[in-house]
Amino acid sequence: MSDTNAARPAPQRSVTLSWWGDAADGRLRLLDQTLLPAEEREIDCDSVETVREAIRSLRVRGAPAIGVAAAYGVVLGLQDVADGDRESFSRRFDEVSDILASSRPTAVNLFTALSRMRQVLESHADLPSGEMLARLLDEARAIESEDRRMCAAIGRFGAELLSDHQGVLTHCNAGGLATAGDGTALSVIFAAAAEGKHLHVYADETRPLLQGSRLTTWELMRRDIPVTLICDSAAGWVMKQKLVQAVVTGADRIAANGDAANKIGTYSVALLARAHEIPFYIAAPSSTFDLTLPAGDGIPIEERAAEEITRGFGRQTAPDDVETFNPAFDVTPAELITAIITERGLIRPVTTQTVREVLGP
Ligand code: MRU
Repeated sequence: MSDTNAARPAPQRSVTLSWWGDAADGRLRLLDQTLLPAEEREIDCDSVETVREAIRSLRVRGAPAIGVAAAYGVVLGLQDVADGDRESFSRRFDEVSDILASSRPTAVNLFTALSRMRQVLESHADLPSGEMLARLLDEARAIESEDRRMCAAIGRFGAELLSDHQGVLTHCNAGGLATAGDGTALSVIFAAAAEGKHLHVYADETRPLLQGSRLTTWELMRRDIPVTLICDSAAGWVMKQKLVQAVVTGADRIAANGDAANKIGTYSVALLARAHEIPFYIAAPSSTFDLTLPAGDGIPIEERAAEEITRGFGRQTAPDDVETFNPAFDVTPAELITAIITERGLIRPVTTQTVREVLGP
């Protein structure tokens, strides 16, 4: 394990989402994550359709970032009707909300953000459309800034779980790229490192779209956190070699009993961690909980195109017409999760009762 944590430069936040302009003439600016790490290019979304496409194709990704992007997407979709009557404004709101809701099914932050935007619409039924649009932009900004604060609090609560000189394994990307702040799982690592703890991160590459190798290593290296990239299939052996003493990942939707959906492969990592008696932590804000679902079997799991596993990044790697199954997420049962790190504190042990105690009824 190399030791390069000393003399770390000032942290650099990965700004991935920003709004430019006012409510009636604004743009959503995103760092196009499909191009990383080879190219750092920002794109401007100027319509609800471009936001939907950006979410669908993972230009913007990670549960909290998807929620923030969707909130701004609502504002973009309503700009053309800001001068019209309230009835057409509300009709268009429904269309825009449906467009965004159909982008990706698993991350609940998307639906939470859309429902918050709807609450604003419905609680000011008498406002003219232009003023309504300004209120909706305020709400989108609030969702963004709350997410930034939640990331910071998750980092503070999670840092206490990590000790000096530990190896920490993570899966997928739950960093600044996936949120409006410093991330969830990576926020814990950044906060522990800021406290002076010397950590070494093992990043699963995270097939098929390689969020671990393309994004997590990129973020950690920018922040001078020592990181080693491993194939997903090496995780068990890395644990067996005693190179990691903790696992921290993010989540896309957590049921009321603590069952947690996250990137495909997370469940396997949790099983491996249990077999090697290594604590397995999930870091997620309250906006990632879906308390309407009693357990994880109700979480909708996105299935993505076969090409992601037969022609990943353009090269054919499987016979033509092979049958495929490409779920983008899996569900880790609560009993495999040592603790869930939220902005309101730690949920430990993870049960329906402790989830309720920390998050409220
Ligand atoms: O398909 P992705 O890249 O959107 O999946 C992202 C993840 O699974 C993350 O771990 C999760 O959204 C948490 S991000 C703070």
